[in-house]
Amino acid sequence: MTLRQTALDLDADDPLASYRDEFVIPDPNLVYLDGNSLGRTPKATVARLRQVVESEWAGDLIRSWQHWLDLPRRVGDRMSAIIGSRPGEVVVHDSTTLNLYQGVHIALGLRPNRRVIMVPADEFPTDRYVVEGIAAEKGLEVRPFSPDADLSDVAVVVRSVIDYRSAELADVAEFTVRAREQGSLVLWDLSHTAGAIEFDVHALGVELAVGCTYKFLNGGPGAPAFTFVKSELQKDAHQPIHGWFAQKDQFEMERGFYPHDDIRRVLLGTPHVLSLVAAEEGIALSARAGMANIAAKGRALTAFALDVCDRFGLVTSTPRDPDRRGCHIAIHVPDARERLSRLTDRGVIADMRPPDILRFGMSPLTTRFVDVWDGLERTASLTS
Ligand SMILES: Cc1ncc(COP(=O)(O)O)c(C=O)c1O
Repeated sequence: MTLRQTALDLDADDPLASYRDEFVIPDPNLVYLDGNSLGRTPKATVARLRQVVESEWAGDLIRSWQHWLDLPRRVGDRMSAIIGSRPGEVVVHDSTTLNLYQGVHIALGLRPNRRVIMVPADEFPTDRYVVEGIAAEKGLEVRPFSPDADLSDVAVVVRSVIDYRSAELADVAEFTVRAREQGSLVLWDLSHTAGAIEFDVHALGVELAVGCTYKFLNGGPGAPAFTFVKSELQKDAHQPIHGWFAQKDQFEMERGFYPHDDIRRVLLGTPHVLSLVAAEEGIALSARAGMANIAAKGRALTAFALDVCDRFGLVTSTPRDPDRRGCHIAIHVPDARERLSRLTDRGVIADMRPPDILRFGMSPLTTRFVDVWDGLERTASLTS
């Protein structure tokens, strides 16, 4: 039996296969392996956006703010099904970059006597830039993360749960415990985690986290990000950007700034309603499919992808252990940029990360095993 036939058989047995029909897929021949950068478009999102625009915006106009006002928190509550948070612990708002900025400040405020921020030297750029910017502004030290580092003078460590290049999963529970024992906080970036693997903030001891909704959660281009602050920390969570959506009595216009005691204290200004409702649909779809099912398919897709890599001698840095990786794989090739554009010409959408990584994302709700085969087989035929 050929491996392509194996892929077709796996698709035929896939319990999540019908979810692909819930997405708008104008070109069924396009091999889309970049849902880790921008997830596909749920049909429900198209309908919801039309309804919100036509009925809530055009029809009800300003009256719609009665129920739009609380959208960041309502959509945040939906994240419980994705990351194990409790209602009232997440808001969906602004961008991951901004949420990182707030999260680092919250952590620094909770550890006022510590002057070190730690971040891996190869962490996703925006995370590093945010840390470096805050350190420069406040005269703090940035120290490169290393797994066994002494954390006794570190206020906060910023780390991704899943590495954006290799998809390697961090030792979240173990590291968070070690950090806590040494008095440090960890701000986890769940951008490549949320909607890709099972994750339970409480079971893992996570206290602060942020992440994207436009990748595996299919929230749409520029969809707002999320901030998780464990409920016990919220009343002491101070962040530097004071806006009226954090204010306790928002419409008592003449008072000074008295933020909510709850998660709303990280909110800033008027929320992006259209993006929020789009994110809500994407999150709801993953919640309905169930993170255990999604994660199981993600493991199967990436396992199949690694088998195909082996078949063609493609070199990958993605962990072999299915419990130690997310939902994308990294293949190392010389001239990655050039090869990526040739792949695009051959109907395969992936992406690259310098210097030599071709990255293939597998979105469990939309990617078929045969897409994985077709994408990697075409990659191999380019590299041979
Ligand atoms: C780990 C990580 N953090 C943050 C971001 C993006 O942040 P933002 O949504 O603010 O552009 C990405 C985007 O790919 C990412 O991979």
